[in-house]
Amino acid sequence: MKQQLQLIWGVKYMEKAQIGVVGGLGHIGLIQAACLAKLGYKTTGYDKNISKVEDILKGKLPFYEPGLHEIVEETLKNGLLKFTSSVDDLKSCDLIFICVGTPSLPNGEADVSQVFASVEEVVRNRKSPCTVVIKSTVPLGTNRKVAKYLEEKGLQDKAVIVSNPEFLQEGSGVRNFWEPSRIIVGAQSGEIAETIARLYSPPGVPVIITTWENAELIKHAANAFLANKISFINEIAVLCEKVGGDIRVVSRGIGLDPRINPYFLEAGVGFSGPCLEKDLKSLIAQFHKKGKQAKLLESVLEVNEEKRKEVVHKLKEQLGTLAGKHIGVLGMAFKAETDDVRDSHSLPIVRYLLSLGAMLTVHDPWVKSFREAGFSEADFPGVKWVQTPYEAAEGKDALLILTAWPEYRELDLARIRDSLVHPLIVDGRNLFDPREMKAANIMYLGVGI
Ligand SMILES: NC(=O)c1ccc[n+]([C@@H]2O[C@H](COP(=O)([O-])OP(=O)(O)OC[C@H]3O[C@@H](n4cnc5c(N)ncnc54)[C@H](O)[C@@H]3O)[C@@H](O)[C@H]2O)c1
Repeated sequence: MKQQLQLIWGVKYMEKAQIGVVGGLGHIGLIQAACLAKLGYKTTGYDKNISKVEDILKGKLPFYEPGLHEIVEETLKNGLLKFTSSVDDLKSCDLIFICVGTPSLPNGEADVSQVFASVEEVVRNRKSPCTVVIKSTVPLGTNRKVAKYLEEKGLQDKAVIVSNPEFLQEGSGVRNFWEPSRIIVGAQSGEIAETIARLYSPPGVPVIITTWENAELIKHAANAFLANKISFINEIAVLCEKVGGDIRVVSRGIGLDPRINPYFLEAGVGFSGPCLEKDLKSLIAQFHKKGKQAKLLESVLEVNEEKRKEVVHKLKEQLGTLAGKHIGVLGMAFKAETDDVRDSHSLPIVRYLLSLGAMLTVHDPWVKSFREAGFSEADFPGVKWVQTPYEAAEGKDALLILTAWPEYRELDLARIRDSLVHPLIVDGRNLFDPREMKAANIMYLGVGI
């Protein structure tokens, strides 16, 4: 299997490479570690979160990602994949991927402290040099600063720094690993960059070898452009509602133009999650730091924030006041096919509804409580979690859909209607055809339809 894969992918140099993945039990790190092991590399996932390491060794993955469980199980069993909570276990690794978090600070800047700390940690006690590949999304200039930081600590001979930003999407992360749209490598040496690119790029996949700064900017600009597309279609959706248009038809008509393409043109409650919003805020902060405005990007963010309020205003318009009203909320994850709630749009919407006095019952197929999602229940007073969407609708004044889980599309509309006190659905994901809802005698308010 290993030889076959190496033949197909043309990997020769790396035959004996041992790979370490720091943040190996995070969303990016675990997919990276498991898929590299599946490719045949001896891979060690190192994570400082001991309980995640203990759990995975008992077969429990820290998050849901389609197709990942099987690869982890297989590669743990054949010995190619290992997990550890001790950094010393990375001492024999030639290549070390840094996949730690870079969360938003309150001013929008990315907090890169985990990146600096983890690079120093893995490099400090090494005897032989290694290549440190930074996959985490970092602001412009960070790779250079990391190299300088090692120099200041007298550790420059222990590691070569390479930027290799990650573009996978949660929910299709495993598929994205096998079929990447492109591989971007920023490095000071072309030879090292090519080695990294060859490590896991399938034939025919475009590879761009460039500078650290270009690699960092490509990642941020790509996410900002995707966010831009979503806010663009959401702005057009506002006008659609005013003139009785249907944004889904408009979107299709726009997306058939090959210069535009149909992706990220679905109107709805906007973008959220641990990447698009965070990276857009970080990019705006990078403009500000250089004394420049990012007018277009700031508007993209503004339109997005408006969209979250809009669904609440739609409920208010129909119900008069939300104080004391019972609302069922479907979907807490930031998108379907993931149980990730970090920076999900559902959180500020739930907070806004609570601030207006609404009583909330929430459902998500994969998220079962705020605590499980890493939040304090006390921050969401009185919110009740239920096991099915029908329980969320039972006796409620309205139902609000926030995540496009496929199973919500399959709801028995007659049952939902009979469960609701007022047959009202506000849909932030346009999951249904309004005609279907009309036939079921449900008042249905989507976005731009
Ligand atoms: N999640 C995505 O879809 C996605 C996509 C592309 C890029 N990214 C970027 O990848 C990076 C990682 O994102 P994520 O979603 O995987 O984050 P995550 O929070 O899911 O994972 C980070 C992991 O790093 C571990 N960690 C932190 N400091 C450590 C240290 N010093 N040593 C060992 N382990 C340590 C944490 O315990 C955690 O398990 C971020 O920069 C993010 O912007 C994420």
